[in-house]
Amino acid sequence: MKFSKRLANLGTEDAFTILNVAKKFEQEELTPQGKSLVYMQIGEPAFDTPENIKQAGIKAIQENKTHYTPTSGLMEVRQAVADYSTKGTGTQYEATDVTIHSGAKPGVFYTLNAIIDEGDEVIIFDPTWPIHFSPVKYFGGKPVFIELKEEADFQPNLEEVKNAITDKTVLMIVNSPSNPTGGIFTKETLEALAKIAVEHDLWVISDEIYDKIIHEGTHLSITAMPGMAERTILANGASKTFAMTGWRMGWTVTKNKDMRAQIEQIQSNDTSSSPTMNQLAVMEAVSGPQDAVEEMRKEYLRKRDILVQLVNEIPGFSAKAPKGAFYLFANVKPLCEKFQMNCSDLQKKIMREANVLLLPGTGFGPHGEGFVRFSYVGTEETLREGCKRIKEWAEKAMA
Ligand SMILES: Cc1ncc(COP(=O)(O)O)c(C=O)c1O
Repeated sequence: MKFSKRLANLGTEDAFTILNVAKKFEQEELTPQGKSLVYMQIGEPAFDTPENIKQAGIKAIQENKTHYTPTSGLMEVRQAVADYSTKGTGTQYEATDVTIHSGAKPGVFYTLNAIIDEGDEVIIFDPTWPIHFSPVKYFGGKPVFIELKEEADFQPNLEEVKNAITDKTVLMIVNSPSNPTGGIFTKETLEALAKIAVEHDLWVISDEIYDKIIHEGTHLSITAMPGMAERTILANGASKTFAMTGWRMGWTVTKNKDMRAQIEQIQSNDTSSSPTMNQLAVMEAVSGPQDAVEEMRKEYLRKRDILVQLVNEIPGFSAKAPKGAFYLFANVKPLCEKFQMNCSDLQKKIMREANVLLLPGTGFGPHGEGFVRFSYVGTEETLREGCKRIKEWAEKAMA
C-alpha cells in the first residue's frame, strides 16, 4: 500500500509536535521525581472565552441551530465578519467577500491550494508561522525565505524582496503583527510591499490574526493600500482575539470574486461548512461588546513587560520588547555558541535540564536559527517560575 509523494513535503507545526515530546518526557522522567515542566511555548490565550460569546453558542444549540449551513457560512455571520473586517482594515468589505472556516488555518491552507502549482515561488518573511510555508511545499511550490533581522526590528530588506522576485513568483505572505517575532511591519514597509505586489501582479495573503493585540502603534492592513483589495486574501479568526482557540473559527476575506469562489469550492470538498453554533458565537464575538478584547490586550502588555525584563536578566538571552501578538523571540546565540549546538538542540537541552518548554526559532523557518520563542499567555507565576529556572540553569551553563 502506498502513500502520496506529496506527503514527503508536508511539514509540521512545532507547537504541536514538541508538546507531544514534552508531555512524554514529563511523564517518563519528571513525574516519577515529583517534578513538572513549565510550559512557556503555548500560543493560545489562557483566558476563558467571554461570557456573552459562550451564551450565544449555548443559545444557538438550544434553538437547534445544529444543521449544516451554506459552505461559506450563514449570511448574517458573513455580514458581521465583513463589518468587523472593514473596521479592522479600512477596506470596505461585503458579506459576499467573506468565507467562514473552521479556523484561520484552513483559510490559509485553502488559499495556498487555490494558488500554487508545481515550481511556483512564494515570498515568505522568515521567521514566520510554519503554516505559511509547509503547505507551499506540499502543493509543489517553493518558499523563498526573506530574513527578518532582529537588528532591523524584524522588517524585511526591500531590496532583497525585489531581488528575490522571479517570473515564477506568484504570492507573498504578510503576517503583521508576527508570530513568532512580535514585530509589526511599518507603514513604509507595507506600502513598499504593496507596490512590489502590484508591479509583479502577485497575490498576497495577509494573515492579521494578531491585529487586536498591538502594544505599540495602531494596526495597519496591506489590504487598504492602493491596488491591494483585489489581490489580497485577508486571513483572520476568533482564536486569539476572543480566546476561542477550541471553537475553531476563522475566515478569509477578499474582494477578488474568483478567488473567493475557489476557496468556497475547496471548502465544500473538505469540511462542507463550519459548525453552525460556533458561527453564531462568532457573530456575537465580532459584533458584541469588545471590552474583553481590550482587557486581554492590557494583560498581555503587562505580561510582556514582565517577561522582557526577566528574559534580559538570563545570561546568554536577550530580547527587545515585541510590538504586538503575545510572543517574545529571544536571541540565544551566545548559548548556541557556548554549547556548539543549534537552537533546536538548545531548546531540548533547556527542556531536559531546566525543565522549561520553549520553541526553537527554526520551527519558524531557517532564519529563526539562534532564537527561541517564549509566549506570554500564561500566568505571571508561570512566567516568573519559568524564567527563574532558565536563569539558574544558564548561570551555571555560562559560568
Ligand atoms: C500567524 C497565525 N495565523 C493563523 C493561526 C491559526 O489560527 P486558528 O486557530 O484560527 O487556526 C495562528 C495560530 O497560531 C497563527 O499564529
